[in-house]
Formats: sequence, structure tokens, C-alpha cells
Amino acid sequence: MIFVPTLTHGDVTVRSIRPRDARVISRLLKDNRSWLQKWEATVPGFEGAPLSSEMIRNVLRLARKDQAAPFVIEYRGQVVGQVTLSGLSFGSLASGAVGYWVAETVAGKGITPLAVALVVDWAFTNLGIHRVEICIRPENEASLRVVRKLGMRYEGLRRRYIHIDGDWRDHFCFAVTIDEVLGGLLARLVRGTANHSLADVPEADQIAARTPIR
Ligand SMILES: CC(C)(COP(=O)(O)OP(=O)(O)OC[C@H]1O[C@@H](n2cnc3c(N)ncnc32)[C@H](O)[C@@H]1OP(=O)(O)O)[C@@H](O)C(=O)NCCC(=O)NCCS
Repeated sequence: MIFVPTLTHGDVTVRSIRPRDARVISRLLKDNRSWLQKWEATVPGFEGAPLSSEMIRNVLRLARKDQAAPFVIEYRGQVVGQVTLSGLSFGSLASGAVGYWVAETVAGKGITPLAVALVVDWAFTNLGIHRVEICIRPENEASLRVVRKLGMRYEGLRRRYIHIDGDWRDHFCFAVTIDEVLGGLLARLVRGTANHSLADVPEADQIAARTPIR
């Protein structure tokens, strides 16, 4: 069972998602339908998204099985989104993947980079994870800015990698290992010393991502 803590930096707090968050999450997802749809994971053969209460039950079940650490993001005390560390594996791999969203009304305030840094530092320090990845659709410029701010290292193009908005979509994958951020990702972000060029995507991969797979 993963114990998901409460972590704060300035106006941004991440804390464990709870069944009683269903109402506010449901409202946010409804109000932000067009903002989120293009980036939302879907399941092949299924139409529509699960109810928020069901989604919360699912991620809490994964946390009980040591497979995920599901957080809500709060900004000045209000729930504004989610950050989830999922696909957790331990032993020789000791890795996980981060996913996130925030409401459009709070976009551009630097909330997500802080939330991700808080979660990754905690995972490195307390979970025994040594590597975290973030995979992003090539068209998602806002999310590509997040990994750039964090100085995450580009690893490569994964063709038709995740089922998003009704189809298998290419993703650019970025990673960070514990050895790359010995002083912590948050400290590096706040100091502004991340090496942004690590997130550069080579032109060949940008062209490949625009070329349909045969
Ligand atoms: C991607 C996302 C999580 C970024 O969160 P955030 O808290 O706004 O992150 P930041 O404040 O660091 O902003 C990141 C970039 O978003 C863009 N942005 C800023 N304000 C914006 C707005 N009002 N509308 C759209 N994009 C905006 C800017 O390019 C910004 O980069 P910059 O600060 O260098 O100008 C958020 O845009 C979002 O939830 N998008 C929809 C869901 C999604 O894409 N999830 C990620 C899937 S991989």
C-alpha cells in the first residue's frame, strides 16, 4: 500500500486523492471538457470517460497494489487538477510515469511543474524509485514546456504509444533519473538551473512524428 503524502511549495499543494474529491473533480472535468479531451487517455473499444467516483476508486485500488500514487493538485487551497505517478514498478526497474492536468482557469501559473517536482522528489526519496518518465503528444506544446522547465531529458519517439482521444497516438518520451537531480528537482526548478536543452527533440523525430506509420 503506497502512502500518498501531502506536499507543499508556496501556493501549490499535492495530496492524496480521496473519494470525496469526486464531486469537484467531476465539475472540473465537465467545465474543462474541450480543454482536456485532446490529451485524455481512452480505452480502445470504449466510448466516454468513467465517472469521477469510479476513476478515483480505480486509482486508489492501484495505490493499494503499489502500482500508482494518485494526487490532486491544489492551488491556494482549491482543487485544480491531478498529478498521478503510475505504472510503478520496483526491483530492477524501479520506475514510474507521471501524468497531469490542470483547469484552464489556472493554466500558465507554473502550477504543474511545481506539482511534478514535488511528486518526483518524493518518489525518489521515499518510494525507492530511480527513474520517472513523462510521455507527451508531439502537438501538446504546453506540456512540452513543462518538461523543458523541469530539464527532463528527451529519450525518444514512441510510435502509436498511448490510446488518447480515441486513437493510438505517437508520444515524445522524457525522463529523469535520481542521479541527475541529486539536490532535488524542486530545488533545481526554483533556482532556475535546469538545463532546458535536454528536452530538445531532434528534428528527425519531429519529422518522423509528422509522418504516418506504415
Ligand atoms: C499541460 C498543462 C498540464 C500545463 O500546466 P500549467 O500548470 O499551465 O503549466 P505552466 O504554467 O508551466 O505552463 C506551461 C505552458 O502552457 C502554456 N500556457 C500558459 N497559459 C496558457 C493558457 N491560458 N492556455 C493555454 N496554454 C497556456 C504556455 O506555453 C506555458 O509555457 P510558458 O510558461 O513557457 O509560457 C496544462 O496546460 C493542461 O492541463 N493541459 C491540458 C491537459 C494536458 O495536456 N495534460 C498533459 C498531457 S501529457
